Amino acid sequence: MHIHKYEKIWLIFGISALVIFLVILGFGAFWQGTHPQSHGVTIDPENIEAHEAFQEDNLGLTKVGDDKYIVNIIASAFNYNLGTDEDGTPVKHIRIPKGATVLFQVTTPDVVHGFNVAGTNVNMMVEPGYISSLETELNKPGEYTIVCNEYCGVGHHMMYATLEVYE
Ligand code: CUA
Repeated sequence: MHIHKYEKIWLIFGISALVIFLVILGFGAFWQGTHPQSHGVTIDPENIEAHEAFQEDNLGLTKVGDDKYIVNIIASAFNYNLGTDEDGTPVKHIRIPKGATVLFQVTTPDVVHGFNVAGTNVNMMVEPGYISSLETELNKPGEYTIVCNEYCGVGHHMMYATLEVYE
């Protein structure tokens, strides 16, 4: 069978592009641990407090076992509700020991928000009516900024919190 020279060039180009694409995808999925957030877990956006995880006392960081934590967050325009401390001050900073397994569960009563712990593989879209969750292990000590990366309105840039991973 005779293949025209240009056709050969295009075939090589096409197949190479496909291989490069799959290598990049594989690197992201298996090496960096990037994968879709949770399955479609639904919640009534007008009554999120009915869900145990999003009741006032259960918001923010909770230790559930040796090196196991849960962080429940209500994202809303334009705030991350991580509960309050003993004085009633809203929590804006959470501290987690290095190597801990952390399950993040986030929902919103209003519009689409983002939940990105910058510099980690925690990067979720938060939609009204759904609970976005992701479990991860935080192994690199440091201070991370949690940012909203879905444009949600005029106060979008003010939506942030911080997470510290300590030794
Ligand atoms: Cu919330 Cu942007």
